[in-house]
Amino acid sequence: MRVFITGAAGFIGSSLVDRYLELGHTVVGYDNFSTGQESFLEGAAKNPRFQLVRADLGEFETLRAAMRGADLVLHLAANADVRFGTDHPRRDLEQNTIFTWNVAECARLEKVPRIGFSSTGSVYGEAAVIPTPEDCPMPVQTSLYGASKLAAEGILQAYSEGFGIQVFIFRFVSILGERYTHGHVFDFVKRLGTDPTHLHILGNGLQRKSYLYIQDCLDAIVLAVDKAEGKTNVFNLGTDEYCELNDSVRYICGRLGVQPEFSYSGGDRGWIGDNPFIWLECSRIRALGWKPKLTIRAAVERTVDYLVSSPELLHARD
Ligand SMILES: NC(=O)c1ccc[n+]([C@@H]2O[C@H](COP(=O)([O-])OP(=O)(O)OC[C@H]3O[C@@H](n4cnc5c(N)ncnc54)[C@H](O)[C@@H]3O)[C@@H](O)[C@H]2O)c1
Repeated sequence: MRVFITGAAGFIGSSLVDRYLELGHTVVGYDNFSTGQESFLEGAAKNPRFQLVRADLGEFETLRAAMRGADLVLHLAANADVRFGTDHPRRDLEQNTIFTWNVAECARLEKVPRIGFSSTGSVYGEAAVIPTPEDCPMPVQTSLYGASKLAAEGILQAYSEGFGIQVFIFRFVSILGERYTHGHVFDFVKRLGTDPTHLHILGNGLQRKSYLYIQDCLDAIVLAVDKAEGKTNVFNLGTDEYCELNDSVRYICGRLGVQPEFSYSGGDRGWIGDNPFIWLECSRIRALGWKPKLTIRAAVERTVDYLVSSPELLHARD
């Protein structure tokens, strides 16, 4: 199978590139390296079944040509940071919604039969039902990121209905593990590296969050694409547990062997759009036979170990 992956140099995208190469497929990666890392593709670059196209999703004809002949598109490229949406009100719309339309339209023109899309648990806003199932009502969007992803889901569903493209939508919780480059574990490890005596935490530390280990996430994507048969298939991806932010801070500090004093910005949200409680109900993907292998604690600890062993990454976005 020829798999076309956008965001191929990113945390999740590059891991997916490696996974599909390991499975014996041909992979074409597409990335503009805005947040992607050359080093993440070092292994793939040595594989004759891998090809990289360095370009932006806004370059429509380049995107279309790169996608030609693909059996499956996995669309990961995005502005992946839920924070700062209100500082850049156009960014999520352009990067996450309009460029998803570009991907869908190129897939239609090139007759690609299947598209997988990395959405997010943020589309539920502050969900009324927890753990949150895929068919939960979504009355209020609380972040421009979540809103842009939900709009992108809608476009893909309409392409599925209108043009017969089979669509897989994955609503992830926060993903952790090797190649992780953004999020609270990254920020805390970086700041504790500079000052192990003090840690400032956004919110009151009681925010409840769910996390998933990268290899568990990849297992789910590969399985769903293989097995799900609907026109549009929507899957929550997360573990069946959650933890408080204070718990994950404890895991991080324990792993680093530091005992900082904590200060809190206060309030039950770290920033506008921060969801005080994310916990997704994942029986739909479990029904296909998927089961995550790592607990949240183990995933946090592996991420800390990875970051400590990759100091160049901690400063890559300075
Ligand atoms: N990491 C998470 O916890 C998480 C959670 C939920 C959803 N997601 C979604 O998963 C996807 C991957 O996230 P990630 O954590 O790997 O992020 P990432 O920033 O590491 O990867 C995104 C990749 O896309 C590339 N890219 C961005 N804009 C582009 C453009 N216009 N043209 C071409 N390439 C572009 C970047 O260079 C980068 O390599 C995103 O769609 C994100 O919204 C991630």
